[in-house]
Formats: sequence, structure tokens, C-alpha cells
Amino acid sequence: MSQTSTRLETPFTTAALGSDASFWESYIASRPSPSEDFFRLINEYHASHGDSRMEVAHDVGTGPGNIAARLARYYDQVVGSDVNEQALDAAPKLISPDLLKRMTFVRSPAEGLVTAGIPTNLQNTDLLVVSECMPLLDAPRALEAFHTLIRPGGTVAIYFYGRPIFQDPVCDAIYDRMATRICQFLLPFQGTPGEPFHRRGAEGLVSFLDNIALPASDWENVERHKWNCDYPLLFNSPDGFDFEFHPVDRRGEGDITHDIVDRDFWAHEWDADNVKAYLDSVYPHYRGQAGESYAEVEAMCEELRAAMGGKQKVTFSVVLVLGTRK
Ligand SMILES: C[S@@+](CC[C@H](N)C(=O)[O-])C[C@H]1O[C@@H](n2cnc3c(N)ncnc32)[C@H](O)[C@@H]1O
Repeated sequence: MSQTSTRLETPFTTAALGSDASFWESYIASRPSPSEDFFRLINEYHASHGDSRMEVAHDVGTGPGNIAARLARYYDQVVGSDVNEQALDAAPKLISPDLLKRMTFVRSPAEGLVTAGIPTNLQNTDLLVVSECMPLLDAPRALEAFHTLIRPGGTVAIYFYGRPIFQDPVCDAIYDRMATRICQFLLPFQGTPGEPFHRRGAEGLVSFLDNIALPASDWENVERHKWNCDYPLLFNSPDGFDFEFHPVDRRGEGDITHDIVDRDFWAHEWDADNVKAYLDSVYPHYRGQAGESYAEVEAMCEELRAAMGGKQKVTFSVVLVLGTRK
């Protein structure tokens, strides 16, 4: 049962506040893990544009540091920042000690990173990554902060993955119904304090991040890689929202866009339980809002189980935006 709330409810972020390490452990287990090739592509871009030093990486919106830990394989020092203190507290419990000793966690909104008190030797950033977080941010303010932190010739890498894509369109349709119904349990968005955040998120995803401008005054060599974006990046259909939204394109004249269809990209073997766990992590704690209607989700999950017939290959729609700091 939905209820009108005067509390600020933002996509993903507020629902995950107060969750302990077990929430974040399930979060990591339920999410697709980017392939090592994906990080190599980012590093190759970094090596071939600007200045290829690899001393400091910064993972913005790091959550429990799962992607920061991936960067620690390549960079001498890694900073992870996030607004969620409990997520940062979970990081040391979930990351191996040999990586942890080269990692530093800072509580700060992305938009306020310049005054966050990052240790001086870790401010001069070679690579700044924003994984699965950019649509949650005030993009122009965040990009200003990133431009200050990244040293000239350094790299910004912003990426976001969306829904799982199945072998069989019947499964895509069941997934879409499930995700859309779950999103509807969270309504209303319109007229609540969270509405601007929901609009920002929905606009970012329906635009495949093309709404995020990397101004030519600050950034060069801008590349936008879009894998499997013949499928939506939005987790649920627009019917899940109670407002209208449309794609916005703020790409610069020099931006290069690569459209790639690759159904083996980030391929994972998932069954219906994996899909359900993914949805549980995308819409944290929706179950309380669903009340008795939760049974509808369980029924759709069984429908998906029958259609999938066990584990099957899923891939994802993914957008990666790369830029060199001028
Ligand atoms: C979906 S999680 C992504 C976690 C991790 N980066 C990953 O790729 O799995 C989004 C994270 O963004 C954080 N976040 C939301 N708004 C933020 C902001 N304004 N500044 C910094 N982090 C923010 C949330 O607290 C959450 O940990």
C-alpha cells in the first residue's frame, strides 16, 4: 500500500541509509560484476590521453567500496567517498586487508568533495570513477568538483548499468512487469520532497546519460560507450512513475559515441532468484511499501522461473562516459 510521505525519499540512497554490512554484502552479491576488460578499457583510455600516471584513483558514490577495490588492483592509492556512513563502515568488513591498506574512505557528497578534507596527498586524482551513481547526483555541481580534484590530463569515467537482458523476450517482458510493479509500490513521487531526485534519475537513464554534459571548457576527448542500449537503461518502464519525462541530449559537438550490441558483455548466468535479488537491491526495502500486494511480485517471480527454466545467460545495458580533464 503506498502512502504519501513528507520525508525525503530519493532513488536507492535514502532507502539504503541505516543498512548494515549484511545489506551491503547482499547488494554486492546481487549486482553484475564488471568484467576486467571493462577496467582495462578505462585504463587504456587513461594511458592514451593526457598523462598516464596511475597513483591516485577516486571512486565516487563508492557504497561499500566494491568498485574501489577493483581499482586498487591498478592504482597505488584509492579513495572511496559516499554520503552513506554505514556503507563506508561496511567496506573494511568486505574488502581484503591487503587492498584495504591502500584505500581511504571519506564521507562526503560528491558535490562537496572539494571541501571534504581529503588528505592532501590523495587530492591530486589521476582517475575518478563514478559507478552506478551519476543519475543520483547534481551533475553540473558534481562535475565541477571532479574537475577540481582531477589533475590536468587525468580521466573521469562515469558508468551506469541498467536492467538484465535475457535470451528470450518473454523473460524481458516478465522482468519489465515485475520491476514496474515494484516501482509503483514506492509512489507517489510527484509532490513529495524526493520528486526532483526521481526526475533527475529517470531523465538520466532514459537519456542513456546523454543529459550529462562534459563542457568543452573543462573536458576533452569525450567518449560515450553504449553497450546493448537497444534495450532501456531504465530499470522499469515509464509506467512505474507518476510523472512524464523525456530524453535530454547535452552531448558536446566533439563527443564521440560508440553504440555496441554485444550480448556477451558482462554476461552472467542468472536464474529467477538472482533477478529477484537484483530487484531487491535496486529498490531497497520496497517490500514494506508493498504490503499484501507483495504476493504479486512473488507470482511474477514464479512466472519468470518457469520461463527461464533454470540458469540462463543475461547481459546488461551499460553506458560509460570518458573524458580527459583539461
Ligand atoms: C547504487 S550505489 C553504487 C555503489 C557502488 N559504486 C557500485 O557501483 O556498486 C549508489 C551509491 O551512491 C551514493 N550516493 C547517492 N547520492 C550521493 C551523493 N550525492 N554523493 C555521494 N554519494 C552518493 C549512495 O549512498 C550509494 O552508496
